[in-house]
Amino acid sequence: MDWYRDAIIYEVRVRSYSDGNGDGIGDFRGLIGKLDYIRDLGVTAIWILPFYPSPLTDDGYDIADYLGVHPDCGTLEDFEEFLAEAHRRDLQVITELVLNHTSDRHPWFQRARGAPPGSPERDWYVWSDTPERYQDVRIIFQDFEPSNWTWDEQAGAYFWHRFYRTQPDLNFASPDVRRAMLEVVDFWLGMGVDGLRLDAVPYLFEREGTTCDNLPETHAFLRELRAHIDARHPGRMLLAEANLWPEEAAAYFGEKGDECHMAFNFPIMPRLYLALATGDRTPVSWILGRMPPLPPGAQWATFLRNHDELTLEMVTPAERALMHEVYAADRRAIVNLGIRRRLAPLCGGDRRKIELLTTLLLALPGTPVLYYGDEIGMGDDLSLPDRYGVRTPMQWSAEPFAGVSATEPALPVVAEPPFSYVDVNVAAQDPYPDSLLNWTRRALATRADMAELFGRGGMTLVDTENAHVLAFLRDYAFRTVLVVANFACTPQAADLALTRYSGRVPADLGSGERWPALTADPYRVTLGPYGVYWLELTR
Ligand code: NOJ
Ligand code: CA
Repeated sequence: MDWYRDAIIYEVRVRSYSDGNGDGIGDFRGLIGKLDYIRDLGVTAIWILPFYPSPLTDDGYDIADYLGVHPDCGTLEDFEEFLAEAHRRDLQVITELVLNHTSDRHPWFQRARGAPPGSPERDWYVWSDTPERYQDVRIIFQDFEPSNWTWDEQAGAYFWHRFYRTQPDLNFASPDVRRAMLEVVDFWLGMGVDGLRLDAVPYLFEREGTTCDNLPETHAFLRELRAHIDARHPGRMLLAEANLWPEEAAAYFGEKGDECHMAFNFPIMPRLYLALATGDRTPVSWILGRMPPLPPGAQWATFLRNHDELTLEMVTPAERALMHEVYAADRRAIVNLGIRRRLAPLCGGDRRKIELLTTLLLALPGTPVLYYGDEIGMGDDLSLPDRYGVRTPMQWSAEPFAGVSATEPALPVVAEPPFSYVDVNVAAQDPYPDSLLNWTRRALATRADMAELFGRGGMTLVDTENAHVLAFLRDYAFRTVLVVANFACTPQAADLALTRYSGRVPADLGSGERWPALTADPYRVTLGPYGVYWLELTR
């Protein structure tokens, strides 16, 4: 039970990971062949991006059939074999549940647009005679869509969509829609899927005079969904994708812990990069201080990067401008409000920065989620449209097409230095103990050794005058770990208020190396540029 609290999650775009049949597109057969690599990396769960039949106007988040597998990715049998092979290696599998919208190619939408207004079939989607309704609702894909309403010729009405116009929103006020979605859930969980990422979950319901985000109706449906799962599929996990401030995001756990088990920690993510950009820990310590207490069983999913842009919706305009200046010098990197770059380019290829952020990812409260390719420091391709630049093929080797496929991949591999597949790939890093890949493996092993402490333990900020330095304690069942991180590009010394732990001996988690014991005085720690330590305070 609660496996997700001790997990380390690895996010994979199936289409980019490994091509099993040589058509240039990654698939389940290819992914099965890489499961040993994934297990040996030291993660415990795989989250896979949408693989369902789809016209692919939003990389598969526009689903045309919830119960199938896109032929590019393989067959349902391939998926079942992937699931079995993952489980055989003790890897949990998390798939996508896109509740909010379907593709406009979905038979439900085709039926709805032809059905008479007011009929139950029509009511599967949200229609209007005017585009004036729900005027208080923001546009998410603001670079691409002028409105959340699009006119449908056949229906003779406008339909509602929070994302692309090819993704009409389902109408959750319809009991038929809610029932259909529970059937989708039963299908995949019945097959043995361990967890579902609830895409775009704040937007399920609409109501005039509101922003339509986070409505009580939406939370009520999530309680219904959770009760359904608890009754029929105990032990499975729901992960909310809700890009919000801490209290609002935490609301997706439910007041009584009766909604989602997990929610992405969107608030902390951009602030890690902000601290790195300014050399000042304050944005991180500030947001950590604002994290509300969680109901029992609830868990944040912490992440540095994913398949979308690095979203900057939850920072101030001034912070956003600064982030754009530092991280999007090439203006092509900006999409919507965020930055479409991977971890390594955001860190300027600086190993020290990558290690600093990754160590914090592993040490902060919550379950870490790693994005495929970041373990080797993959780059991105700004010449590709939308967010495809951060979804390029996994770089396995310096062989043609990065070893990802026998033929030219549908999405090109990164071929430009300094992050080209010739320079950055698994085969080149695997033999060398000091490579980023092997550093990451060791860091994951360190975290896994103390999975309960990091996954379930408490977190206390430690006072220090030096604003470049973030220090916090993690503790669980009489064990305590001190984490110290320097966001500055210069060496720093910090005096830490740790007198309560006088007599304890810090021991480096990776090497076991012991430091001088803590005394009644503040404990002085010196760190190199972007230096970071995790030390157990042993008795
Ligand atoms: C969030 C997903 O992460 C993103 O890739 C997608 O475009 C939107 N939801 C719409 O489904
Ligand atoms: Ca293929």
